[in-house]
Amino acid sequence: MKTAILGTTLGSFFLACLIADEPRLDALKHSYARPDSVPQNEANPLTPESIALGKKLFFDPRLSNSGMVSCASCHNPSLDWEDGLAVGVGEGHKKLGRSTPTILNVAWNRAHFWDGRAETLEDQALEPIKSKAEMNMDLDQMIEVLKSMPEYEKGFQQAYPEHGITKNSVAMALANFERTIVSGEAPFDRWINGEEDAISESAKAGFELFNGKGECFKCHSGWNFSDSSFHDIGVLSDDKGRGAFLGFESMNHLFKTPTLRNIAGRAPYMHNGSEATLEDVIELYNQGGRVERETLSADIKPLNLDEKEIGDLVEFLKTLSSEDAPITLPALPRPEPLASL
Ligand code: HEC
Ligand code: HEC
Repeated sequence: MKTAILGTTLGSFFLACLIADEPRLDALKHSYARPDSVPQNEANPLTPESIALGKKLFFDPRLSNSGMVSCASCHNPSLDWEDGLAVGVGEGHKKLGRSTPTILNVAWNRAHFWDGRAETLEDQALEPIKSKAEMNMDLDQMIEVLKSMPEYEKGFQQAYPEHGITKNSVAMALANFERTIVSGEAPFDRWINGEEDAISESAKAGFELFNGKGECFKCHSGWNFSDSSFHDIGVLSDDKGRGAFLGFESMNHLFKTPTLRNIAGRAPYMHNGSEATLEDVIELYNQGGRVERETLSADIKPLNLDEKEIGDLVEFLKTLSSEDAPITLPALPRPEPLASL
């Protein structure tokens, strides 16, 4: 009898805790809710014409010197807009210094590249085309190539009648297409919208750890799971990151917090692909980083997560992947027949 009373008392105690906890959990869930619209650049409004033109350019290998590398060679839509490699590989199979980030949700980035060296998507877009190791294309030559194709002449007339085919309008079209690359609804989104069975109990426990003991929320915040800011989390690497770009030693080894949307399909991880699996990533955080250095973030310290908690965090991360419809490729202008054929 006594036990039964104790049981009931304990039961209502836990119930009371749960009720008291609901608003906190709801507020937390709400902080990750998907936005209704995409941020735009006022100087380059999103129009159907500019998006369609940008899509063509993104998939066109003729923007590269060899005629074989397009933006999509590295930012491949079937690999969550990455390449599945530790570091990118460009023209002539040259290895790049860093891994290819996804372009999913780049419209929400406050700065672009791992070290944030490009302020806007328009600033970013011509860099890979010029880069010797990526597409190795002279920009004036690129303009000539585009002008030689009547379909592009028409596309630019429709999208940017006041510019025609210029370096700027190429950058603007690419940027606008990229703004439309947004990850779709994931099981996690369905859960926070009230579909209780959308994710497993383990994933729900992982969400609590993400926002509690794991302290992941401190940097991976908001619907896109990124504060768009820069931190040293103790990745094994000599790359100075933001420090090399800005010339401040205090910023050595700082890299931009990546989005965690569609993260399960985006291995290997980190700016140098040094962590092979999500379990490895959690192990890095559990250790408080792989290396000790002065620049290590104050928010990175050993977490004492046990095996179950590591598993729960991984389960949670897996709920962030959307099942998007495959992208339909644009019809590219037909190349001129080669004289030698
Ligand atoms: C050879 C592979 C390769 C090609 C081709 C390539 N990229 Fe990238 N891209 C990368 C790598 C690697 C990085 C990261 C470089 C860094 O941060 O220093 C990157 C970074 C980016 C970023 C920044 C993303 C972020 O979260 O900061 C954007 C946007 C982007 N590329 C768009 C493009 C566009 C547009 C094209 C075509 C004009 C293109 N890329 C061609 C490999 C490539
Ligand atoms: C102090 C800020 C900070 C905290 C706290 C933090 N992260 Fe990160 N996270 C980053 C940064 C910065 C990177 C990229 C580092 C690099 O490449 O050098 C990153 C990378 C990642 C990656 C790989 C992403 C990719 O595109 O390769 C995953 C997954 C990840 N974090 C998950 C977590 C989880 C889970 C936690 C909590 C246990 C956590 N993070 C805590 C800042 C943070």
